[in-house]
Amino acid sequence: MRKILVVNSKGGCGKTTLATNIATFYANRGDDVALADADPQKSSRAWGKRRGKDLAKVQALNWSTAERIGEDKGKDLDAIVIDGPGGLRSELAKTLIAEATDIVVPVLPSAFDWDATVKFLDGISEIKRVRKGRADIHVVANRVNRRSSQVVELEKLMAEKGYPVLCRINDRVSYARDAADGAGIFDHTDKASSEIRAQWHPLLQALD
Ligand SMILES: Nc1ncnc2c1ncn2[C@@H]1O[C@H](COP(=O)(O)OP(=O)(O)OP(=O)(O)O)[C@@H](O)[C@H]1O
Ligand SMILES: [Mg+2]
Repeated sequence: MRKILVVNSKGGCGKTTLATNIATFYANRGDDVALADADPQKSSRAWGKRRGKDLAKVQALNWSTAERIGEDKGKDLDAIVIDGPGGLRSELAKTLIAEATDIVVPVLPSAFDWDATVKFLDGISEIKRVRKGRADIHVVANRVNRRSSQVVELEKLMAEKGYPVLCRINDRVSYARDAADGAGIFDHTDKASSEIRAQWHPLLQALD
């Protein structure tokens, strides 16, 4: 089973947005997928409650306490997407990473976020499971503005530090709208949004 942890010590970088959207990808391709909420803020559980019954099913798991991490109630799942908490402490990070086959780290194209993210990546790279290659790290630039050159700077820095950026997700109001609707970009099939979905392909391919 694939277990994809979306995490960064930085708050507000798009962990819940990435986790919910990745979950809708698996759900819409027919996989049995659960979204495990490891954040006491309960954002992704609230998203799940808003999700319409007519949409592809995303099961909900509550991993908000250390004891609950790893619990899947005997569900026979293809994938678990884990929405990690912000300000992750090292012990909890280790417990979550011990579960993960993949670690997705969103980062904003804002210089305020970079140092903290690099420090976080250096920290998790030290964890034995990651060092031994049993969990892969995927860095995603999130909320990219097409008219800004900041993302180029971000990509340069991350490549230098050994954490190349895998893909760019643009800043789009549709993500906020979907969040409010308990939906994700892969619930939509219209041609107009296909360009937005295409941005996710490098990440989704790496996860497969
Ligand atoms: N690509 C995007 N385009 C537009 N808005 C976005 C995008 N990604 C995230 N957002 C918005 O940015 C805000 C923060 O995103 P999100 O809640 O996913 O971050 P987070 O890392 O989970 O935050 P927290 O640390 O509080 O858990 C939300 O309002 C979300 O709708
Ligand atoms: Mg969140």
